[in-house]
Amino acid sequence: MVISNGSKKIKTAVFISGTGSNLRSLIRYSKTRKSVISIDLIISNNLKAKGLRFSKIYKIKRKVYNFKKKISVENKILKNLKKNKIKLICLAGFMKILSKKFIKNFSGKIINIHPSLLPKYKGLNTHQRAIENKEKYSGCTVHYVNSKLDSGQVILQKKVKITKKETPKTLAKKILAQEHKLYPKAINKIINR
Ligand code: GRF
Repeated sequence: MVISNGSKKIKTAVFISGTGSNLRSLIRYSKTRKSVISIDLIISNNLKAKGLRFSKIYKIKRKVYNFKKKISVENKILKNLKKNKIKLICLAGFMKILSKKFIKNFSGKIINIHPSLLPKYKGLNTHQRAIENKEKYSGCTVHYVNSKLDSGQVILQKKVKITKKETPKTLAKKILAQEHKLYPKAINKIINR
């Protein structure tokens, strides 16, 4: 589905759980002239997520939620998203699985970045598994989020070569650098100006 935004920037929320390097790259992109989004809200399930510091640095609202009571917390998040007129959700290293109901509420408007060439290597430890299986390439994927883990329609992918000496750490670093370029490109692709 292509999201239409007239001429205004699409108000976007980014969900994180950790470092937030993709969040930072999305914020930087959002401040460029060609950006079709503005980042208006950062949401996390983890009070200790390092990426939360970007809220202060870039003066973006943030909210941390405790996911122990998933249904009620999701309802609170939905209210907050509505209040802030959020039209697009970018998951960026967000480690919680959203419910079907939540996804239905934002149908076609939640996207995620994943560090493998989906449909290969869904879930965790993608780099280790790709190396163990002697893959020649891995990469990253931006995809729509549906109710099955890492299974929604692919928007864009970028291939990265796996060298003979590759370790999960070196591969993660190479792929992350590509993720930072791919996510903004994928957003440009789905938003119709
Ligand atoms: C990225 O590799 C992303 O693909 C995955 O989690 C990692 C998050 O990194 N979903 P960061 O928090 O954006 O630095």
